[in-house]
Amino acid sequence: MEETVKTTNDDIVLELENLRVKFVLETETVEAVNGISISLRRGRTLGLAGETGAGKTTTALSLLRLVPYPGRVECDKLVVEGHDVLKMSQKELEKYRGADLAMIFQDPMTSLNPVFTVGQQIADTIMLHDPTTREDAMKKAEAMLELVGIPAARAVEYPHQFSGGMKQRVVIAIALACNPGVLIADEPTTALDVTIQAQVLALMKKLRDERGMSMIMITHDLGIIADVCDEVAIMYAGRIIEYGTLRDVFNHTRHPYTEGLFNSLPNIRSRREKLKPIPGLMPDPSNLPKGCAFAPRCRYATDACRAERPADRMLSDTHMVACTRYDEPGFRIDRPDRD
Ligand SMILES: Nc1ncnc2c1ncn2[C@@H]1O[C@H](COP(=O)(O)OP(=O)(O)O)[C@@H](O)[C@H]1O
Ligand SMILES: [Mg+2]
Repeated sequence: MEETVKTTNDDIVLELENLRVKFVLETETVEAVNGISISLRRGRTLGLAGETGAGKTTTALSLLRLVPYPGRVECDKLVVEGHDVLKMSQKELEKYRGADLAMIFQDPMTSLNPVFTVGQQIADTIMLHDPTTREDAMKKAEAMLELVGIPAARAVEYPHQFSGGMKQRVVIAIALACNPGVLIADEPTTALDVTIQAQVLALMKKLRDERGMSMIMITHDLGIIADVCDEVAIMYAGRIIEYGTLRDVFNHTRHPYTEGLFNSLPNIRSRREKLKPIPGLMPDPSNLPKGCAFAPRCRYATDACRAERPADRMLSDTHMVACTRYDEPGFRIDRPDRD
């Protein structure tokens, strides 16, 4: 594993500070995101990991300023490729989406229109951002298809004529058509079967590296994180509870929830070892506990954990943990360090 080198701020392509998102419904308020900060460097891939409902998709939509009604979004800073996204007009946002930041969703059918050919759809995206003729845009669209491993001749086919993995390749072609600096992939392979998953991931890695793109990979799969990410943020109940380089989080785990995630994974080396799923469920985001949101499921929790929300603590330049007990003398979670 490669360790992070210190870089200047010029290398930061995306900076998000203290994002909060609430969905105010008639009977309750869903606190979906409760103070998330991330920064992403050029050419790097950040993994956002966590169980369903942790707030991963809402965070991604916030980066695009696409959180749907009745979502209320607040945030102290959102700068992407040097642009202050919070100050953008609707018109500027339309340019920003796709050209600076593009997103791939879990289900390719949410991004594809069944009534247009895939070539038309890629060309439309190109024309939205580039003043070019339809003929030229179609030529570029065919080149994009080839880039993702689909013969150009299939540009005239409709989405239903493609398999799931091929549809996701088309979605990737659309996302990359305007050469975004940052690509967000929200569980891009979850809907695909395992062998196809591996092919699509390999393709994404290849294109990322060829284009020097930065990426945010959202997944609940720690195997995918280990495979494609440089840094990882573990999310729980709308917060990042542990954040660091892959080595920080995987080899020097400090948060009990991260430990629980690893223990609930099948261990390749000792298949006979029993899986230990984390007992209990994530708290209801419309009724979050007062203290640490993980305390009700945490085998290390004390009264102090239940009383107050833990602060974000830096253990090193790169490694953050939000755990009340992190610096208690003699306190250690069970997962041993490894290198
Ligand atoms: N449009 C919405 N209206 C109300 N609640 C929502 C909406 N979108 C998401 N939520 C809630 O916000 C929380 C976080 O959801 P989400 O961001 O989709 O999590 P993840 O992607 O990690 O599974 C969940 O409790 C979800 O039910
Ligand atoms: Mg999601």
